[in-house]
Amino acid sequence: MFEPIERVPGDAILGLIQQFKDDPNPNKVDLGVGVYRDESGVTPIMRAVKAAEKQLIDDEQTKSYIGSHGDPEYGADVLKLVLGANSPVLAADRASATQSPGGTGALRLAADFIASQLPGKSIWLSEPTWPNHLGVFSAAGIEIKRYPYVDDQNQLDFAGMLAALENIPKGDVVLLHACCHNPTGFDLSRDQWQNVLNVLRERELLPLVDFAYQGFGNGLDEDAYGPRLLAENLDEVLITQSCSKNFGIYRERTGCFIAVAKDTEQMENVRSQLAITARENYSNPPGHGSAIVATIFNSPELDQMWRDELKVMRNRINDLRKQFVAGLEPHGLADRFAYVAEQRGMFSYTGLTKAHVERLRDEHSIYMVGSGRANVAGLNADNIEYVCNAIAQVVK
Ligand SMILES: Cc1ncc(COP(=O)(O)O)c(C=O)c1O
Repeated sequence: MFEPIERVPGDAILGLIQQFKDDPNPNKVDLGVGVYRDESGVTPIMRAVKAAEKQLIDDEQTKSYIGSHGDPEYGADVLKLVLGANSPVLAADRASATQSPGGTGALRLAADFIASQLPGKSIWLSEPTWPNHLGVFSAAGIEIKRYPYVDDQNQLDFAGMLAALENIPKGDVVLLHACCHNPTGFDLSRDQWQNVLNVLRERELLPLVDFAYQGFGNGLDEDAYGPRLLAENLDEVLITQSCSKNFGIYRERTGCFIAVAKDTEQMENVRSQLAITARENYSNPPGHGSAIVATIFNSPELDQMWRDELKVMRNRINDLRKQFVAGLEPHGLADRFAYVAEQRGMFSYTGLTKAHVERLRDEHSIYMVGSGRANVAGLNADNIEYVCNAIAQVVK
């Protein structure tokens, strides 16, 4: 039976990781990986997370199922984190939280919900976007369409994006990155979010906001500007949230699917459908990550510790962005790469071409994705000058 099954190539990024491992050059630099790295190149467990886990060992009473919507305490915490503790949306009781296996699980819930409850609607993704968006939505049988996001000069193409949104058929779904756009790092300004809101309202489009990096851009509340604006001004908004990055609990698979509806009645209707969607996919979400998050939010001390640690991570990335541009200054390249300091989140569309990326890898053992996407958190005090010098050599 298995004879006709063909082998497909593995994930390009996984291939890159292997190549990096096999490279004997002691100066090699990994800018391809998709996780946060600290100054010593480690993806650390946050102290607040460790402390919460220690507490859970003593306090956790059961490992029984937590239900299709997950832990209600975690759901309430995430709603406040994403929408704001004093959100009018929460006061009106028109937002529902369904705990999910990571942000990817939340996206799959969103995809199945759209496919089953809004049949015939297409989803519009930025070009480029996180590659797995294509996989998740096509696996659910949803037609994928694209809107432009970056122009030939490697700048945010907001005019192109808005013009495309203005022509999307009524009722279609538009996926927006809340902050720290992956892979480009180009985020919308507050004015641009307002423009997007106006078009969504006029065209009666349904936004699906992917919020995987809250706290990695400018701050927990600052990064939530877009999703909060939409949730407070539109009747219907979908949000997929992830705790993978901002709590550093990637492998605990902890996320949330938030559905904002016009009123409590409609929200409860949607929520009832989501319980079925979750149940048919995986029954119940995993419980360890959500217990960690709820334990942290339950303790003012751990909550503060977590916020402080997250701030250190965010500042490190934003400082590295500035240092990178400064490191290119002696080569006369600071203006050309100035946008790297303005981008937000871990990732940067550097504007380097595939040929540049190949030379960086082959001649300097610097690894990044073929699109020129670099993980800024892979830089550190020891390698940043080496990387800047190498870039100067390949672009000249
Ligand atoms: C844009 C975006 N959305 C969602 C996710 C999903 O994150 P996870 O499933 O690890 O929580 C990621 C992870 O890289 C991402 O970059």
